[in-house]
Amino acid sequence: MSEQTAGVIDNIADASVASGKGRIEVSHFGLSYASAEGPIEAVADAGIVVEPGEFVSIIGPSGCGKSTLLNAVAGFLKPTRGTVRVDDEPVNRPSADRGMVFQQYSLFPWKTVRENVEFGLKMKGMERSRRESAARTLLGLAGLLAFENQYPDRLSGGMKQRVGIVRALATGPKVLLLDEPFGALDAQTRIIMQQILTNMWQRLKISVLFVTHDIDEAIFLSDRVYCMTARPGTIKAEITIPLPRPRQQSMMMSSEFLALRRGLMSLISEESLKAMSGEVNDDALQGLTIDTHGHALSEMI
Ligand SMILES: Nc1ncnc2c1ncn2[C@@H]1O[C@H](COP(=O)(O)OP(=O)(O)OP(=O)(O)O)[C@@H](O)[C@H]1O
Ligand SMILES: [Mg+2]
Repeated sequence: MSEQTAGVIDNIADASVASGKGRIEVSHFGLSYASAEGPIEAVADAGIVVEPGEFVSIIGPSGCGKSTLLNAVAGFLKPTRGTVRVDDEPVNRPSADRGMVFQQYSLFPWKTVRENVEFGLKMKGMERSRRESAARTLLGLAGLLAFENQYPDRLSGGMKQRVGIVRALATGPKVLLLDEPFGALDAQTRIIMQQILTNMWQRLKISVLFVTHDIDEAIFLSDRVYCMTARPGTIKAEITIPLPRPRQQSMMMSSEFLALRRGLMSLISEESLKAMSGEVNDDALQGLTIDTHGHALSEMI
């Protein structure tokens, strides 16, 4: 590692765990959206903690409020009830201290890869040569230096998400928030992205809160996993992942991994069925040749 690379990494790491920073604490969090039909309660009384430098995932059925919770930690949404704190400070607006990566690619299409990464640093007033070298160092860590002058439309989905992660890291955030960042990627690219993310996380030592639907991904990446209930989402379970690091793909076949997977799978499938029962009703069966033997579908699931 060059001296310059080490310098940039140290700058980011200094802002986080080295000084015990990046503790997320969400307590008794509830959020209702206003709608024409009245308030929609997305999350009710959820509590989570992410310790400095920890990698924590949230899984739960579609619509349970994972993005809502993450957006409140980012400062894009205000809690209806409860509190969201980072390092004991209440969160009430977005901040460069909390980097966010969205599921949809959210790069500026009119800026090159390096300009996208430099954007936050420019906003912070960093002078050109310093921000250029910081951006190039981080792009190098993510294997993207050869693409620094390309525009986003020339990149694959995996590359765009890597740029998104690098851009979120460039300003030296204390916490990195990721909302299903690999959801749109094929299985092989996803595995490579997971490796890149854990490598960067281990070097930068920042706290990560990661939302995913994918149980294997949650286990492979995390120190701990929170499992949410169907909407209105609360925390149903918290599972510690005791697998050693660094993690290898081969671990996914170990009996320890498979036991964790079975446990999480049963928690999630119970909640997914609950979440779907509102949408899948007996009318949905009409025209299909499914015999429920006189029982209502709602009794069966
Ligand atoms: N702006 C909004 N207005 C009204 N309701 C909303 C709004 N945003 C989300 N909701 C509702 O709040 C609930 C939680 O949404 P959220 O996007 O947080 O779920 P999620 O767990 O991230 O789902 P997914 O896994 O599908 O991404 C859903 O029922 C959704 O329909
Ligand atoms: Mg979501």
